[in-house]
Amino acid sequence: MKAKKICIVGASGKLGQYMIEHALAAGYQVSTVCREQSLPKIARFVGRIEMHAAPTDDADTIRQASQGCQAVLTVLVPWGMQRYASGTAQAVLNEAPEDARLIFSCGWHISLDGQDRYDWKLKAIVAVAGRIARWLRVVDIDDQVRATQQIFNSDRRWTVVRGSDLEEGDSEGLPVWSKHVGDPILASNRTRRTDFALFMVHAINDATLIQQAPAICSSKSESALRYSPQH
Ligand SMILES: NC(=O)c1ccc[n+]([C@@H]2O[C@H](COP(=O)([O-])OP(=O)(O)OC[C@H]3O[C@@H](n4cnc5c(N)ncnc54)[C@H](OP(=O)(O)O)[C@@H]3O)[C@@H](O)[C@H]2O)c1
Repeated sequence: MKAKKICIVGASGKLGQYMIEHALAAGYQVSTVCREQSLPKIARFVGRIEMHAAPTDDADTIRQASQGCQAVLTVLVPWGMQRYASGTAQAVLNEAPEDARLIFSCGWHISLDGQDRYDWKLKAIVAVAGRIARWLRVVDIDDQVRATQQIFNSDRRWTVVRGSDLEEGDSEGLPVWSKHVGDPILASNRTRRTDFALFMVHAINDATLIQQAPAICSSKSESALRYSPQH
């Protein structure tokens, strides 16, 4: 039987590389999109994945790379002042195959329904870091907000996965998730980056996540262990 195919957009970053590893391990054929200058970062996968070198907001490339894919997994990053995140989201929404699952990554600061409860620390980080980054013209956090608004307004089969603070290290298993930041199960605010990627790949076949914005946290974190229903 022919392996099912998925596309990873923004594949050369840390999250993207973990997603490639999990997708290959799960038996998917993998097509990737990343900037040309970043190809060396995924050189170790040559011969095992399809590579498309272009900016991730290039609509033609997204159409070609995602052809025949059952899912498109996209890393949304607020880099630069050229509307890169919203351009990338729009290209994927417009060009991915009609029935494809569309899974996007972002952070806890994004809110689907305004019901998230943020502590002062996260609010301060987003406000201060956002202002400094905009002043330096390297990051435009508002554009990630714009990107996710486009996704939330779409009637496609999307999921926006909201990552907590990330750390490197071995997998601790599939993260737990909740609809709202501020829920006790998420209080530890930590996830291994490899497990963020694992959740992105898992979401492809989890229909309960369609048109949801799960906020995730490590299943081995103190808050998850304390508040998970099975404990
Ligand atoms: N870092 C955190 O603590 C954190 C916390 C919560 C959620 N998240 C979310 O997790 C996801 C991955 O974040 P990450 O921090 O781990 O980063 P990452 O996976 O290393 O990804 C960084 C991405 O940004 C791209 N990039 C870097 N500089 C760029 C530029 N000047 N112009 C265009 N693209 C550029 C990279 O592409 P190249 O490879 O081409 O450079 C890469 O695709 C994001 O959706 C983020 O919102 C991160």
